[in-house]
Amino acid sequence: MKILIIGAGMYVTGRNNTGTGTILSSIAQYSKSANVEQVTVVARSQNNASVVAESVARINKTIGSNLKANYQSLASPAELTNYLSANKFDCAIVSIPDHLHFQYTKALLDNGVKSLVVKPLTPTLNEGVELLNAQKATDTYAAVEFHKRWDETNLITRRYIQEGKLGQVLYYEVGYSQRISIPLETFKGWSDKSNIFQYLGVHYVDLFYFLTGYKPLRCSALGTNGVLREKGVESWDSVHVMLEWENPSDGSRVVSNFNTNWIDPNTSSAMSDQRYKVVGTKGRLEIDQKNRGVEFVSESEGIQQLNPYFSEYLADADGLIQFQGYGHKSIAQFLTDIVDLNNGKTTSEKLGKTRPDLLSSLVSTAVIDAVNQSLNKNGAWVNVPEIEEIKWK
Ligand SMILES: NC(=O)c1ccc[n+]([C@@H]2O[C@H](COP(=O)([O-])OP(=O)(O)OC[C@H]3O[C@@H](n4cnc5c(N)ncnc54)[C@H](O)[C@@H]3O)[C@@H](O)[C@H]2O)c1
Repeated sequence: MKILIIGAGMYVTGRNNTGTGTILSSIAQYSKSANVEQVTVVARSQNNASVVAESVARINKTIGSNLKANYQSLASPAELTNYLSANKFDCAIVSIPDHLHFQYTKALLDNGVKSLVVKPLTPTLNEGVELLNAQKATDTYAAVEFHKRWDETNLITRRYIQEGKLGQVLYYEVGYSQRISIPLETFKGWSDKSNIFQYLGVHYVDLFYFLTGYKPLRCSALGTNGVLREKGVESWDSVHVMLEWENPSDGSRVVSNFNTNWIDPNTSSAMSDQRYKVVGTKGRLEIDQKNRGVEFVSESEGIQQLNPYFSEYLADADGLIQFQGYGHKSIAQFLTDIVDLNNGKTTSEKLGKTRPDLLSSLVSTAVIDAVNQSLNKNGAWVNVPEIEEIKWK
């Protein structure tokens, strides 16, 4: 398999000691038991060549893989289109800032390259719909990397809801925040083109859709600002959203609210603080997605809550280090799906029933688009357009 990666940032390479770097690690792990002929990483600056080479060398050494990756610098979607006319790939993974997802993914789909896009699909619904149309025109499978759908704690929630253990779902409450170093340092180049709800909150919008299959109806969003703005980043410090959903099977309404911020102190015990609650007529589930019960206290790092379940190098039963976690599962599943599509074992239509494909991901994109509109209208209620092609239950 030949894989193209667009972007050479922290999620791809784990650059600047930001951790494992999920995408290259995951492909390397996958390559230990499947054929990965070549990985090509493209981004703008030639400086990324050494970052990619060092990341791949570190990963190969850590998990005993033999991944081969080269680097190509490309300045624009037009250059990508030219490049694709001379170079063929089985699939691509797009991991660049939110506002660029559309142009690069469009170039990939127009050229028939099956694609996995990091969340959010796009910040606006119009762009998302255009990508869906490009996908249909070329019959090219594409999905969004919503890895929370693979987290076992969320699968428990899903099962309990489906089994009726909570009764009729009444409300869903999400608290999600991230250290201020992320908008100020890690994503300094583009944090003013996103916001905490669009970049992170979207995970829990997609999750609720995945958990329930409910239809988002309307939202009202308010933001606070000052701290980031004072430091030169034009983005909300916090975003607060009230979002109403409909259970399509009986028309009942569910209220969700999201409190998100991008200004947690850097001394916070994890990069992201995240928890949610689903309350129904017969029960309630409360999930702490930061505190997984693993606390590390040290002189150098203070108190840290570790999450060993997302993206980690862990030993298997034979003591060999493997890249594991729900982050890996999500990417490995996409690669397996590509092989199955190429072998005629599955179809885009079949995958669409269970995967976060483009159509399914339009739901969360419709919500972030409506939330961004409400934020600019001082909290006015904004209807979330219905995605007509979805067969609401
Ligand atoms: N970091 C994470 O844990 C994580 C997890 C899931 C999804 N994501 C998503 O991945 C995307 C990128 O995140 P990241 O952490 O790798 O960010 P990053 O800022 O570390 O890297 C961004 C990459 O995009 C490239 N880039 C920037 N501007 C560009 C342009 N104009 N044209 C082409 N390439 C450009 C940069 O060269 C860099 O390689 C975001 O959409 C984010 O939501 C990140």
